[in-house]
Amino acid sequence: MIKKIIVLIAIATALFAASESSFPADWKSYESVKTPLAMIGALPDCNADVSSLPAIYQETVATYCAVKPGGPGAVEILVNKKAKSSFAKRNGKFPDGAVMILHLKDLKLLFVTTYKNNKPLYSIYTEDGQDASNVPGSGLNPNDCRTCHTGYGAFCLNGQCASLK
Ligand code: HEC
Repeated sequence: MIKKIIVLIAIATALFAASESSFPADWKSYESVKTPLAMIGALPDCNADVSSLPAIYQETVATYCAVKPGGPGAVEILVNKKAKSSFAKRNGKFPDGAVMILHLKDLKLLFVTTYKNNKPLYSIYTEDGQDASNVPGSGLNPNDCRTCHTGYGAFCLNGQCASLK
């Protein structure tokens, strides 16, 4: 009985934390684009003075600055070739499938935004395809992604936060 309950809890936790879309195995073919964050090049540690940045960037630093000493480190923004014009237009219309990736290069993690019927889905994978999503509030839960990506009014348009620099 107890064993059964533990198994059930384990399954429920896994389901709850799971990434919302499958791993984009072709992510290396995506093209890197220049956005404000890509131009900065890295997410800093918690001592960085980010007070001059827009509030959403300040919250992003606050969410991830403590993941390791020195901060999360090098990042790049990758866009699926078939969605490059959507990304550039920034009109909230995206083709189905994985579209945008925030690549945390030092952490070897992929933050993936995928569209289904033009609705954004959020996923977290390691570079080699392990689901790296975690509990709510960890910054690695699809709902944490959604909260920030929709919580700043017009700053993010249908899931897309960055604009081309
Ligand atoms: C606290 C706020 C915040 C959280 C939490 C957050 N993001 Fe973002 N995200 C941003 C901002 C701001 C940018 C734009 C950075 C830039 O200038 O390129 C961004 C950029 C991105 C991009 C590049 C394309 C785009 O939308 O501009 C992807 C993909 C992405 N995030 C996915 C995720 C995923 C997946 C998660 C959850 C694991 C997540 N994000 C969590 C704020 C956040």
